[in-house]
Amino acid sequence: MNKLSGKTAIVVGASSGMGRAIAVGFAQEGADIIGLARRVDALEDMASEVRSYGRQAHVRHFDVFDRDAYPDLMRWLDESQLDFDIVVHMVGGGIFALATTDERLQRLFKDHGGKPPFWTITDDDVDRVLTLGVKSAMSTCRYLAPRLMAKGRGSLIVIGSGAGKAGEPQRYADYAAEKGAVMCYVPAIAHELKPYGVAANCLLPGMTYTPRNPSPAAAKPEDCVPAAVFLAQQDANGVTGQWFDARAYQVSQVS
Ligand SMILES: NC(=O)c1ccc[n+]([C@@H]2O[C@H](COP(=O)([O-])OP(=O)(O)OC[C@H]3O[C@@H](n4cnc5c(N)ncnc54)[C@H](OP(=O)(O)O)[C@@H]3O)[C@@H](O)[C@H]2O)c1
Repeated sequence: MNKLSGKTAIVVGASSGMGRAIAVGFAQEGADIIGLARRVDALEDMASEVRSYGRQAHVRHFDVFDRDAYPDLMRWLDESQLDFDIVVHMVGGGIFALATTDERLQRLFKDHGGKPPFWTITDDDVDRVLTLGVKSAMSTCRYLAPRLMAKGRGSLIVIGSGAGKAGEPQRYADYAAEKGAVMCYVPAIAHELKPYGVAANCLLPGMTYTPRNPSPAAAKPEDCVPAAVFLAQQDANGVTGQWFDARAYQVSQVS
């Protein structure tokens, strides 16, 4: 259980669901954790579990909708002298995720039997989906990758989804657009990162039971951890520029 010993992972969206499971799973493999999200109490709970495995945990309130979220994060990392080897980006989820804190979207879901048609969402909803799921993933990569590049190694992992694969029938069009964008972006940056020794991959977890997705048929958040650990061990000489299917534990076709 020491596949990640000596490493530090920064997990953006570490307070619940798969991000929390990955943070704890990485700690069980010997990694120290830097966890970011809006709910600091939930982050502290995750940090306690990380520390119970003898690893260090640092947490910080972080909201991808704050204009200066990323510059402030970089300043905090410098001031706290925190370095990292692995970056995991989990934030996203389309209007489904936004609806957890938005009464108008909750009504929209209710009025349309849980599946609002694509033409019913507003300009503002589109902007927020892109900020939550696409701009945040791009910012995580743009701001944090140079730290890995300077070391000449490291691994970037961005959450994807089967929903991002073109041509598959989808429940939520905005979510398909969000994940499709990210799943094109990551293989593209992997090419640019290769000379710097850094891997970049998308993790496709399959339908997973979380507070936002309480389907009894879904996998457990912990089920994606072995695949995340595998991707965390990669650098530019290993698996990079891929979509990695956590359930099948294999590379999925990048089309
Ligand atoms: N569950 C599934 O079936 C499934 C399948 C494929 C892909 N995914 C993707 O997996 C990712 C994680 O989802 P999950 O299912 O594990 O759900 P989750 O438990 O809701 O996790 C989302 C994480 O993102 C954080 N977050 C949300 N809004 C944020 C913001 N504005 N700024 C910073 N952090 C924010 C949340 O923390 P705070 O609320 O504390 O900010 C939480 O830590 C999402 O991108 C989702 O689309 C999920």
